Amino acid sequence: MEFSVQSKDVWALHADARVLPRFEDSKSAGLPAKMAHALEGAKKKKLFSGKKGESWVFDGVVFVGLGSPESFKPSSLLRIIGGTYGALRRLGAQSVAVDMNGLPADAVSFAAQGLLDAAYRFDDFKKEKTPEWLEKIALASKAPDASGLLKKALVVAAAVRQARDIDNLPPNVAFPAAVAETAQKWARQHGLKCTVWDEKQLKANGCNAILAVGGGSVNGPRLAVLEYRGGGKSDPWVALVGKGVTFDSGGISLKPGADMDKMKFDKSGACVVLAAMAALPKLDVKKNVVAVVALAENLPSGSAYRPSDVVTSYSGKTIEVLNTDAEGRMVLADALGFVYAKYKPVQTVELATLTGACCVALGEQFAGMFGNDDALLAHVQAASMQSGDAVWRMPLDEFEDDVKSDIAEVKNVGHPKGYAGASTAAAFLKQFVSGPWVHLDIAGTSWNTSPKPYLSTGATGFGVRLLLEWLSQKTESTAAKTKK
Ligand code: BES
Ligand code: MN
Ligand code: ZN
Repeated sequence: MEFSVQSKDVWALHADARVLPRFEDSKSAGLPAKMAHALEGAKKKKLFSGKKGESWVFDGVVFVGLGSPESFKPSSLLRIIGGTYGALRRLGAQSVAVDMNGLPADAVSFAAQGLLDAAYRFDDFKKEKTPEWLEKIALASKAPDASGLLKKALVVAAAVRQARDIDNLPPNVAFPAAVAETAQKWARQHGLKCTVWDEKQLKANGCNAILAVGGGSVNGPRLAVLEYRGGGKSDPWVALVGKGVTFDSGGISLKPGADMDKMKFDKSGACVVLAAMAALPKLDVKKNVVAVVALAENLPSGSAYRPSDVVTSYSGKTIEVLNTDAEGRMVLADALGFVYAKYKPVQTVELATLTGACCVALGEQFAGMFGNDDALLAHVQAASMQSGDAVWRMPLDEFEDDVKSDIAEVKNVGHPKGYAGASTAAAFLKQFVSGPWVHLDIAGTSWNTSPKPYLSTGATGFGVRLLLEWLSQKTESTAAKTKK
């Protein structure tokens, strides 16, 4: 797929097909007479009025509804324009012109990303690959900065694809050491520093929570740390942390068999963090960013950790294990403890497929957002709105009592009935945090269960766009300005 910005009217471009986004009840002015007439007819017959989600194909033109201008968000074009991919295929179009005139400048960015998202297929394990049939995409836009926005969009879209690519890998291929190797490879390719701790180093450094989770598998755990120095020498660190459980069987607290295969996506947080890191140099982000991903495979065996074990985490805090299936918060306890001790980050965003409770609460539409700093929460919320990766803020402080243990500092489960499971999991993580921090529970958003016109099933790469948007913003929170 080759994208270009054309500073022209969409009708002046040569293409096999055209995509015309229309606001609800917009006038047909500007259309060729034949088109305007057809569109009026379609409106009368209630075939197309421009409502969000509507589409109508006529004479090589795919009309898509944008809804009302008042509620329009440019990021909604990810799905709206991505959603035309199937219709374009049915039209047999190899080249397409997309009308972006009359829309905000960043429309070109989301249109390009939307089509790339929609075209993504994971076929690593198929001999017959799906060929890409859509060759040329011309984005008709007279916005002066459209070309620059397109260039950035292609970097972001590639990062999303990269995250989806490794997240979709099966656990016999993407086991902890293999993911760590990918991290090292990407670091070499993009000029980042990368350190990986294997079991020996994890042991020597007291990462006993990661070791506990990984103890049941012959595929030992790893901790990968990547550094990107885009800021000044004395600038503070901003941290990304990701849960990388390459397969979550539940361990001794074994999960039911149905849908257990989906637990290969329990490494989504790590994949998203790694892909975002690899994109930072290309986006020339002016910050010092450190990423920590905790990689482990959670399996039952004679060497597996067990319910009632007490583990001393990296930070020194003891954890009573009451359920080995609450392993994500275990590995994150060490990852967070490590990053605060070694880097003193002024802002941290951590992503994890942490709880089924979050899926129940927010579905596949929103990630749960938790945090301890209003300014950082506001920034992440803004990056969410801007990028299209939707988050919804959830309560946290009220649940800290739920993770107090009778015999250790904390226990790894909350309410006995699982009440507020996403919030109690976040309250557990908070015990290992010592600075402004946002936790995104991406359990519901990180893979797509039913195929959509704009998204095939499997890994979604949710979070890459949000992280890159957040890290690209120049504004710093008050916390980031007061260097610790
Ligand atoms: N990886 C799972 C969370 C999950 C479940 C993600 C379903 C996506 C879909 C996590 O490790 C887990 O098993 N959490 C438990 C916690 C419980 C044992 C306190 C859960 O949500 O049931
Ligand atoms: Mn689990
Ligand atoms: Zn898990």
